[in-house]
Amino acid sequence: MGLTEAENAVPLIEFSHVSFAYGDATVVDDVSFAVNRGEIVALLGPNGCGKTTLMRIMNGLEFADSGTVMFEGERVDRALAKDELAAKRLHQRMGYVFQNADDQLFCPSVEEEAAFGPAQMGLPEEEVDRRVADALALFNISDLAPLAPYRLSGGQKKRVTLAAIVSMNPDVLVLDEPTNGLDEDSADAVTAFLVSYAKAGKTVVVSTHHRDFVEQLGARPIRIGKDHRLVSDAVPESAVGNVAAR
Ligand SMILES: Nc1ncnc2c1ncn2[C@@H]1O[C@H](COP(=O)(O)OP(=O)(O)OP(=O)(O)O)[C@@H](O)[C@H]1O
Ligand SMILES: [Mg+2]
Repeated sequence: MGLTEAENAVPLIEFSHVSFAYGDATVVDDVSFAVNRGEIVALLGPNGCGKTTLMRIMNGLEFADSGTVMFEGERVDRALAKDELAAKRLHQRMGYVFQNADDQLFCPSVEEEAAFGPAQMGLPEEEVDRRVADALALFNISDLAPLAPYRLSGGQKKRVTLAAIVSMNPDVLVLDEPTNGLDEDSADAVTAFLVSYAKAGKTVVVSTHHRDFVEQLGARPIRIGKDHRLVSDAVPESAVGNVAAR
């Protein structure tokens, strides 16, 4: 990937003793983990344990009350969010697909949704068009291109949000329950895409409640407990083969 040894030695994403509360309610409690380049990692745990919150903190949409969050050796904190250039860089390098598609979609058409990110990156028009066509084809929604996202079904909306992020070709994909609401063929296509994305040297962080999805991805599990604390990010025996096979 053309990285120096020093760059390779630093984890891509690193949470160290991160805690976060909404008001008085602690929803992330002293959580530490690292994600390396080219890995597929799965955040697992019961409803309300804090997976979405961890992803929002990872993307600089919320900030740790204590502990540190690093991306490529740079601190993700309020100072970074206030620095327009640094924040833009983070959001172009780390694509975030929200759990709820309605929170993400805002353009008048599917096509514009997929074009927004690449256009913001300042890419030439032909390149934007090419990326939009590729992303829509990838998630099998080319025929929906002119339609208004709010009129689509839940699974169709989810596929639009995936296309809108993938069209930016980010180094890291953070996907909050990406297969939720998808039919089997669409879920399989997303799985195959994420595996190939990581094979190409990109990094993938998902949250999910589906064991099959974790296995098919060959993802390294990071488990959060009901108590909002880390359970274990060790590779279980059953997943060793999957990880080694990647
Ligand atoms: N904006 C908010 N204000 C107050 N509390 C919130 C807010 N968002 C989430 N919470 C609370 O924080 C806790 C963690 O929520 P989070 O969405 O991170 O859980 P999750 O692990 O993603 O759950 P799920 O599996 O249902 O998606 C929950 O108890 C939730 O009620
Ligand atoms: Mg969630």
